[in-house]
Amino acid sequence: MTVSEAAPAARRLIDEKVVVLDFGSQYAQLIARRVREQNVFCEIVRHDIKAARLKEISPKGIILSGGPSSVYDKGAPKCDDGLFHLGIPVLGICYGMQLACESLGGKVESAPAREYGRAHIRVTDGGNPLFADLPAEMEVWMSHGDQVARVAGDFVPLAATGTCPIAAVRHEKLPIYGIQFHPEVTHTPLGKQLLGNFLKRICGCHGTWKMEDFANEAIERMRRQVGNKRVICGLSGGVDSSVVAALLARAIGPQLSCILVDNGLLRKDEEAAVVREFTGHFKTDLHVVKAETQFLQGLAGVTDPQEKRRRIGRVFIECFADEAAKIKDAEFLAQGTLYPDVIESGAAADGPAATIKLHHNVGGLPEDLQFKLVEPLRDLFKDEVRALGHELGLPDEIIWRHPFPGPGLAVRCLGEVTKLRLDRLRDADAIVVGEIKGAGLYRETSQAFAVLLPVQSVGVMGDARTYEDTIAVRCVNTEDFMTADWSRLPYDLLAKISTRIINEVKGVNRVVYDISSKPPATIEWE
Ligand code: XMP
Repeated sequence: MTVSEAAPAARRLIDEKVVVLDFGSQYAQLIARRVREQNVFCEIVRHDIKAARLKEISPKGIILSGGPSSVYDKGAPKCDDGLFHLGIPVLGICYGMQLACESLGGKVESAPAREYGRAHIRVTDGGNPLFADLPAEMEVWMSHGDQVARVAGDFVPLAATGTCPIAAVRHEKLPIYGIQFHPEVTHTPLGKQLLGNFLKRICGCHGTWKMEDFANEAIERMRRQVGNKRVICGLSGGVDSSVVAALLARAIGPQLSCILVDNGLLRKDEEAAVVREFTGHFKTDLHVVKAETQFLQGLAGVTDPQEKRRRIGRVFIECFADEAAKIKDAEFLAQGTLYPDVIESGAAADGPAATIKLHHNVGGLPEDLQFKLVEPLRDLFKDEVRALGHELGLPDEIIWRHPFPGPGLAVRCLGEVTKLRLDRLRDADAIVVGEIKGAGLYRETSQAFAVLLPVQSVGVMGDARTYEDTIAVRCVNTEDFMTADWSRLPYDLLAKISTRIINEVKGVNRVVYDISSKPPATIEWE
């Protein structure tokens, strides 16, 4: 999203906005999120946005993000120096601070000692609003190879570490502040208060923004973007696509057509819940493509996980494209791309988004599907999407549903994927999830599911010897799905899950619990 698209409605609906200029930092979105957590709307803009444009947008504050470059490198990303003279408060973070200092006459050099990780700063000028009500010494997170070696006359150092004599600065005449450390990460325990000081004491924000404002703004923006054209939205049953569809239903109701591809690889009752919600509640034009047979034919005899993904992707594209072709005059395709997906696919937050990314959450659509994209969630993190879904009136059942991989149960059905094995897995999975919900632990766990192993073992039922399948129960806790730990579920709960699966799911005589962390294991088994 570019600010030029967002600005007119944003100004009408959102009084207080802060912009983050992105210099390529992995943390730019985290900064935006931390600002939103303080109830101030925030979005990311290109680092080279013109000062005149910023003046039009009239944000309450400007944050210059960190970034991997050195300000003295040829081709290092710069900002329009005019922004320092708009009278709008500026906070430079890491690279952003170095850039502000260099642009206004200071000197940035490679630091004698690089600092990565925890550091202690001493605040040398506690009387300024940035450090108001903060202790004279605090722990911060540093990650830099360069530092400001000398400031120009009008900059005053505010804090130092043992190796970084200028760890924070302010300008004497202009409302410009800089910090060498990262207030946005949790390793800077008082970072929230410091950002709060910038927003409230320096920018004069009141902190009245709510998720409802985001919903209204996104709805306005989508209305402007699509005009009177038709939009297709692929529904998967997951929270992201459901929230996008709900937003579109509110924004352009009758112009929305949703497509749900029933690939036969969905969780138990998943399709029914989506149909109930989107035809019953939102009354959208919902096309359910019954494609179980095609998918199972495509998967016949395949056991290699990546080959399963490829085949599923191929059949998905065929089914989706066939159905989309039946929807006349559709010009736009809506996707539930979230910010973490944007990072993964390497797309710039405000880069040209005309082509469709091969993105696994939609099953991977080809670039020759000639649609323009609508991606209203691309600035949000998962928990913000859930908050938005709640705001839009989606039921908890959809909002809190654990993530589910695009290839669905196929990658949890190890070995060959057949209808019989899928049904077995689906039943076991429903017991795992149902019991965890019953114990009130579903929201506390990040992902919980059953895996059907291609392993038979000997058992005994009554007087008879059995030789049947094994179910592995996988349940993990994670913040970001990049690392994860297995959930310490109570033994009694595990016992109940095991007993019920063995008693109720025909063909299973053994249940095991997966106690591997990620890394080295992954969350899924394939
Ligand atoms: P792993 O197994 O890599 O999973 O630890 C991390 C997260 O990604 C999900 N996942 C997928 N999602 N298509 C998807 O849309 C896939 O092919 C896929 N593989 C894994 C997984 O469920 C977990 O949330």
